[in-house]
Amino acid sequence: MTFSYAPGAPAVLSEVSAEFYAGAITAIVGPNGAGKSTLLRVLLGLVRPQSGVAAWPEPASVPAQTVADMPAGARARSLVYIPQRLSPAFGFTVRELVEMGRHAAGAGPDSGAIARAMERARVGGLAARSFDELSVGQQQRVGLARALAQLDAIEGPAALLADEPAAAMDPLEATHALTTLLAVARAGRVVVVVLHDLSQVLAFCARTLLLDARGRVSAMGPTGEVLSPRALESLLGLPFDPASVGGRVVTLVARVTLSARDESAASP
Ligand SMILES: Nc1ncnc2c1ncn2[C@@H]1O[C@H](COP(=O)(O)OP(=O)(O)O)[C@@H](O)[C@H]1O
Ligand SMILES: [Mg+2]
Repeated sequence: MTFSYAPGAPAVLSEVSAEFYAGAITAIVGPNGAGKSTLLRVLLGLVRPQSGVAAWPEPASVPAQTVADMPAGARARSLVYIPQRLSPAFGFTVRELVEMGRHAAGAGPDSGAIARAMERARVGGLAARSFDELSVGQQQRVGLARALAQLDAIEGPAALLADEPAAAMDPLEATHALTTLLAVARAGRVVVVVLHDLSQVLAFCARTLLLDARGRVSAMGPTGEVLSPRALESLLGLPFDPASVGGRVVTLVARVTLSARDESAASP
């Protein structure tokens, strides 16, 4: 699939070929502007590629459907999106926003299901608060709660696509959010998450799609293979050391060599 935002404009995504599976989280990783958010929008059918398709297989022998051709209601009954920022207006409360997830999936009100989604995303204590008054990290938890409410109302196959869902969360909240997304994946949903924190990718995402700065897939597969120090060095132009604790890689540390001038500036 190849995509550009305007006819004749340079391609933002070039010849991207990828498959996403239920059961584990797939991370999308790449530098700023690589096209990660755009790839999610293509997968959701919000924008249409110039060549190729994003398709969502139906169960059994029904032919795969091109997502951009699915009516909005049908999309919302199989695809769930956590955008980078929710921007609702009108001072909706947290509970009202989470309820909207159920409505998106075409389900009626269910206060128990809404309370469960809020608890899982740790926003139960914020239910009556206005969304606009919350910190950005709290707002991200509300985005997760809304997605969980929508997923809970979908009985068939479903995919959850999240764009940097924990970027504004503190490390503890981010760990809770990613643990919840992993549970969603293990419950049989397709989960695709754009992440920048490579230690989170290593800890939670069994598969990784690495996009390079020109919107090409530079690698896709098991995370341990994709995030090899060599792949990262060639992508980011920096030498990398995997640091490990108890034999498990926990983080990747760039070895940046300062020039003589920078070093003298840094010394007292
Ligand atoms: N609505 C848009 N119209 C035109 N260009 C866009 C639009 N959204 C993003 N872009 C451009 O597409 C490229 C990829 O953007 P994006 O998908 O947001 O990257 P990432 O999420 O990897 O940082 C960037 O060069 C960006 O400027
Ligand atoms: Mg983005």
